[in-house]
Amino acid sequence: MAMKKKVLVVGGGGRCHAIVDTLSRSPQVAKIWCAPGNAGIAAQAECVPLKDTDVSGLLSFAKEQGIDLTVVGPEAALSVGIVDAFRAAGLAIFGHTQAATRIESSKEFAKILMEKYGIPTADYRSFSDFQEALDYVNARPFPAVLKYDGLAAGKGVVIAANPQEAEAALRSMLLDEAFGKGRVVVEDHLTGPEFSFMAFVDGERVYPMPLSQDHKRAFEGDKGPNTGGMGAYSPLPFITDEDYEYALEKIMKPVAAGMVAEGCPFKGVLYGGLMKTPQGIKVVEFNCRFGDPETEVVLPRLKTDIYEVFSAVAEGGTSLEALEGTIDREGKVVPASELMPELEWSDEATLGFVLASRGYPGSYSKGFEISGLEDALEEPSIRIYHMGTKAESGQILTAGGRVLMVVGSGKDLREARDKALAAVRKIHCDNLFFRTDIGHWVL
Ligand code: AMP
Ligand code: GLY
Repeated sequence: MAMKKKVLVVGGGGRCHAIVDTLSRSPQVAKIWCAPGNAGIAAQAECVPLKDTDVSGLLSFAKEQGIDLTVVGPEAALSVGIVDAFRAAGLAIFGHTQAATRIESSKEFAKILMEKYGIPTADYRSFSDFQEALDYVNARPFPAVLKYDGLAAGKGVVIAANPQEAEAALRSMLLDEAFGKGRVVVEDHLTGPEFSFMAFVDGERVYPMPLSQDHKRAFEGDKGPNTGGMGAYSPLPFITDEDYEYALEKIMKPVAAGMVAEGCPFKGVLYGGLMKTPQGIKVVEFNCRFGDPETEVVLPRLKTDIYEVFSAVAEGGTSLEALEGTIDREGKVVPASELMPELEWSDEATLGFVLASRGYPGSYSKGFEISGLEDALEEPSIRIYHMGTKAESGQILTAGGRVLMVVGSGKDLREARDKALAAVRKIHCDNLFFRTDIGHWVL
């Protein structure tokens, strides 16, 4: 039997907790480290006090510990080139190169790519001049969709209802350079339910995960400001088999092939943020990583050993190597297409509630004690992923905007929801709120 593996997971939120939790089910994994991790992750992995963007620190750590495989969660780490650095040092790593992360870090790059490869998305124009952008927007119908062309921590998209809102947003992005110097993409406003299509991608090969849906607004009934996501569920009854085939064949596969053709192949997770519009399915955005909170409801459904999946993508070739075969870490030549195990998913439905600090996504206080977690976890179909917590003198305290995600699973979404809600009610904290209506689109 081969030696058991040492794995490093980079990141620290709920998404990384779900990745660590799924890896901990692998019989091949000896030990998991997580940098920086959090109070929940600490139960399944040794947390390492290194920032997720500290590439040289992480590289030294991986070498010293003899890490067999590194898995990267957050886009920030990918966009500073952690994958390029690890690969140059000959270390196996799951995640996209800096060049491939442009699919997320530059709205304009993503738009040009979609245009070139015929991938359905809203029509757009991009601007660096404030007055030109303003004139263009004012000559078109509202609402106007304005997107800063760069990473803006989820705050770079403004749906302006009227000329005043549009002017304020363009002023902040182009004149005040609120997110730094950059261009603005102005695109047509689309309508319809949004959903998330995540896939493991290795060059041209796309291995889909089940679909899920996030809930971006802070309050019940999809009201209030946009957040990182207040809950999610999987599967999605409103997406037909035809919709799914279309999204896979006309969106996910062509974008993977397009990136190969552009010389920056994917090697990690591709996240399609899609919308089912009256004119068909269209791309709202692509991300170069697992979604958060979608990962927390999708990975619990994975029955395949995720270590095999991560290492197949990390070691598999790009399209050319795939034909010729690739050398695995034991030195055997294996066709890259044979490294990837067949993905098996449970039929159970999953649904999760995010518990967030009062005031989030605006300002909020931290350091409130959380109790009742063991009680909530007594039901075996419940998982609790820590998003922003810390441990201090035996207590678990709130330490972020989004604090916990409580996920239930069941024979259908209703059962998953009821179980998760019952578990949420067992958790006590003076400063948390949640949306009770996760799944309202279908329940
Ligand atoms: P993005 O960061 O590009 O995903 O945009 C954030 C959110 O803004 C999306 O999840 C949508 O809810 C909304 N949005 C983005 N682009 C459009 C569009 N073209 N039409 C309507 N809503 C959009
Ligand atoms: N849930 C949206 C995202 O991960 O970007």
